[in-house]
Amino acid sequence: MKNLQTMIKEQGQVFPGNVLKVDSFLNHQIDPELIKAIALDFAAYFNRSSITKIVTIEASGIAPALMLASHWGIPMLFAKKSQPSTLKNDHVYHSPVYSYTKQTETTISIDKAYLTSQDRILIIDDFLAQGQAVLGLVEIAKQAGAQVAGVGICIEKSFQAGRSRLETAGLDVYSICRIAALDQGKISFLEEDKFCGQ
Ligand code: G4P
Repeated sequence: MKNLQTMIKEQGQVFPGNVLKVDSFLNHQIDPELIKAIALDFAAYFNRSSITKIVTIEASGIAPALMLASHWGIPMLFAKKSQPSTLKNDHVYHSPVYSYTKQTETTISIDKAYLTSQDRILIIDDFLAQGQAVLGLVEIAKQAGAQVAGVGICIEKSFQAGRSRLETAGLDVYSICRIAALDQGKISFLEEDKFCGQ
């Protein structure tokens, strides 16, 4: 099986605005063996003890989050980007998330029934760019009184501000692949030969 870095090198496409398209294995079609290897890499880095839930945002965070939750035998909880009509506003925690990549603002929400002050969560997401999505989840965790054990990311765009924002907020950030640049269609990594999900 090819690791995440190899898959990005072979199949990743660079689009204007420093956007990396990885639809063939992560964001549209999903490679389950790769996701399994990614989950095991997260499991090797983070200490399972006292983590009660894996938390992500729909849609593309769900696959790696679910695989890790299954490996550890704990629930996976995803924030919704649209509030279901069956949920009243006072029954959810919510936070606005501005995406610089998509230039849209979304309100993410989590049902109060599934996140409480008894929880210690690990946040998992597919990409880290500006960090707004993760900070939205951290804000929701704060509203619930839950602790955040750390943040696991599949692909970090290290040339953008996300990691420093999260570290400034005191978070332990672990990324499987760290991209140094996406210059003129060429993808370069911070750690060229890193293990990267295998
Ligand atoms: P942002 O504010 O720059 O968008 O950064 P953030 O770190 O909050 O990134 C989270 C969102 O941005 C995620 O989408 C992520 O998938 C998307 N994203 C950022 N950069 C890239 C990129 O280079 N390539 C791809 N494919 N996605 C990128 P989301 O809103 O959670 O949507 P979804 O794809 O999970 O549905």
